Amino acid sequence: METNSSKSFLGTSTDIGVPFIAVANHKGGVGKTTTTLNVAADLALFYGKKVLVMDMDKQAHCAFFSGLERREGIEKLFSANYKQVVLSELVQKIDLTDNLCIDLLGNIGSHGRGLERVERAMVKNDDRDNIYDLVINLIKAHRYFFGQYDVVLIDCPPGVTMITKNIYRFADYIIIPTSAHESSFDGIDQLVREVARYSGKVKSKVMGFVLTREKPHSAVRSTILKFSEGLLRAKSLQMRIPVIGYIPESARVEEATTKSLGTCPSLAVYAPKSKPAVAYEALTDNVAKMFGWKKQSKRGGK
Ligand SMILES: Nc1ncnc2c1ncn2[C@@H]1O[C@H](COP(=O)(O)OP(=O)(O)OP(=O)(O)O)[C@@H](O)[C@H]1O
Ligand SMILES: [Mg+2]
Repeated sequence: METNSSKSFLGTSTDIGVPFIAVANHKGGVGKTTTTLNVAADLALFYGKKVLVMDMDKQAHCAFFSGLERREGIEKLFSANYKQVVLSELVQKIDLTDNLCIDLLGNIGSHGRGLERVERAMVKNDDRDNIYDLVINLIKAHRYFFGQYDVVLIDCPPGVTMITKNIYRFADYIIIPTSAHESSFDGIDQLVREVARYSGKVKSKVMGFVLTREKPHSAVRSTILKFSEGLLRAKSLQMRIPVIGYIPESARVEEATTKSLGTCPSLAVYAPKSKPAVAYEALTDNVAKMFGWKKQSKRGGK
């Protein structure tokens, strides 16, 4: 994973040299969308990366949280004439600062019914390998579009669906946010096993856990570390998943979403000195380190 730039990055599933990083957990409300948008914004703000956010959730929260209009989007990628689709026309810009933005390829048409149709079609032809090939071919057919980005972050929907299973397979890396409640660990075992089942290379794929909504003095840190040890002992997995971010519970997160409507709910922009902003920057630093990306500006830098 250690390279000097994303363009020299090798071994991505699509061979277009751009890492696809999915933010996934079957459990709802654990901070997937918040993590996707904050890491995306921090990579743009502090690392000068050109970032595409792919919103694969029919709830369309990336667009909704960013105050963007709901309109036709990512489902076009799965249409019959996908090769002719001009994806750049479907991208919406999420403004971070006057001269910086991240791009969103969202599932925002008809309140997400587009992706629902894609999902139904996938279920009807329950043939995992063909669907995987289809997704990879769709991405390759649009290699120019995806190739202009340094990194693609995928906001996954909750639940276990044909779409999530395919994302586990085609994404190069997976970040697993989990809220700091013990009940939140229930589904992780299943998620990790599913990544193993659908991709066959879980060890190199799962980047790490992000512990979200952490309360001061909570005992959950040690629980998740024990859980990680447990995976190491589990005969079938034999792996340790590192914790790559600790995000505190903070009213600033909700505020950033509700009060910054119309712009990106990025904590680095809305409340740059707040604890969750600092924590998301540290998480982004950890992600960037894995790719050898160099930091270009400090917190609050625009
Ligand atoms: N660190 C935090 N402190 C306080 N609130 C938070 C924190 N992280 C997320 N939230 C809030 O928790 C709620 C759920 O977060 P988010 O939408 O990111 O979760 P999700 O996993 O994407 O949910 P879904 O499964 O529905 O897509 C949101 O209202 C968000 O503002
Ligand atoms: Mg979400």
